[in-house]
Amino acid sequence: MNAEPCTYVIFGATGNLSRIKLMPALYHLDVANQLPSGTRILALGRRPWDQEKWLSEVRDMVVAKAKDDFDEVVFKRFAERLQYHQGDIVDPACYSSLAEVLSDKTKFARNIAFYLSISPADFGRVMELLSNNHLFNEDEGWRRVIIEKPFGYDLDSARALQKRISHYLTEEQIYRIDHYLGKGMVQNVLVFRFANVMLEPIWNRNYIDHIQITHSEELGIEGRGDYYNSAGALRDMLQSHLLQLLTLVTMEPPASMEAESLRDEKVKVLKSIRPIPREAVHGHAFRGQYASGHVKGAKVNGYLQEDNIPADSMTETYASMKLNIDNWRWRGVPIYLRTGKRMAKAQSTISICFKHPPLQFFRDTSVHCVDQNWILLGIQPEECIRIEMTVKEPGLEMKTRTSSLDASFRNEDEKAIDAYEDLLLDVLKGDRSLFLRFDEVEYAWRIVDPIVQTWADERDYIATYPAGSWGPEDSRLFEKSAHTWRSSLTPECK
Ligand code: BG6
Repeated sequence: MNAEPCTYVIFGATGNLSRIKLMPALYHLDVANQLPSGTRILALGRRPWDQEKWLSEVRDMVVAKAKDDFDEVVFKRFAERLQYHQGDIVDPACYSSLAEVLSDKTKFARNIAFYLSISPADFGRVMELLSNNHLFNEDEGWRRVIIEKPFGYDLDSARALQKRISHYLTEEQIYRIDHYLGKGMVQNVLVFRFANVMLEPIWNRNYIDHIQITHSEELGIEGRGDYYNSAGALRDMLQSHLLQLLTLVTMEPPASMEAESLRDEKVKVLKSIRPIPREAVHGHAFRGQYASGHVKGAKVNGYLQEDNIPADSMTETYASMKLNIDNWRWRGVPIYLRTGKRMAKAQSTISICFKHPPLQFFRDTSVHCVDQNWILLGIQPEECIRIEMTVKEPGLEMKTRTSSLDASFRNEDEKAIDAYEDLLLDVLKGDRSLFLRFDEVEYAWRIVDPIVQTWADERDYIATYPAGSWGPEDSRLFEKSAHTWRSSLTPECK
């Protein structure tokens, strides 16, 4: 698919996401000569900035990310693509002026992508106003809308939002973004699984004991108190990013990498996840909130002391879950997911634990217990694929240890590409394979909805954990006493 010139209209252009991700990603696409000529970026923001101020702001955003790689010549070219448009996105007047600006064919490409980096509460209204001003009219070029997560607040609100926006847009025009799908190592999960013939025969309930997916952060809520307190870890990370990782690790091979095939398989897995009845929520989900503690040696506040957080907040900053997939491949293999802010280490990993080998072979030796094999997929910050095997220790005795086969995929001179670069380019190409279809979002909400509802009702107790720790004691989730959270990518001695 070829990228076509387009006008990117960024709603919320002065906000955090645009600053740290979108503008740097667009600049890096320009560095890589991936932005078709004629591509323009129209930034929409409330602040009364003129063009000069906007250019200097964008320059700061880009320099902060590119650091020593900042290229004055490319930035000059990039700056020519930029324009600032002041307006309040809930004010109808903003849209007539926007329509007028965009009607200048000498300046703006006819294809338009609207990137909504705004409060989810405003999605519906903004689309209505865009539609009222004929900005979704495709007579002269395509119109695509990129929507940031969370798509809805629970199952009902996601359906209501979908119903509302489908008045204005077709499914083909909607790009629901989950930036995890743009991460190189996340895409590598598919290649690792489906381009290596030795894995498929063992990738199932006959060989795999359980799977863990961990996303932990050292950071806290970083000034996003208002949003975070209404979302919490379950909605913010688990319903979206972690369930997406789960689908990629567990889905059946798709017919092709084409969007619908891929999404069909992801939906099939989500549909096969055993629903959690309200009365079983405590056995399947756990929540916690960070108290004060130390992260990287520095003392940090607890969640309740963060700005804009009510003193009696019950919002979880840690959420963990056990899921079961009731299909032929996975029945009986528990999948554990956990995510938390202010934890001991920042990392995202998928850890696949294999069953114990039969041990009779070792019965007259000093080997009484052999470690299970693991496959470890490090998503970030360390991108790696490791297969842990048991080997004999050198020497006269029959002793074993764990050795790790490393199939990490990036050489030192190969730079990591930010997820947003890949996804912003896919929008220009019209490739929706790494964006979510509504039924994916809907089934993901179905899975977490009983937990969302139960936690909303039960407002008397939430476990706490010291900032800088691995989270609260939630071992009640584990199906077997031998199961524990795996936090490291190097062999763990038992
Ligand atoms: C976002 C969440 O979607 O993902 C944040 O809203 C979280 O709370 C972030 O910190 C994590 O993304 P990444 O790419 O830094 O792992």
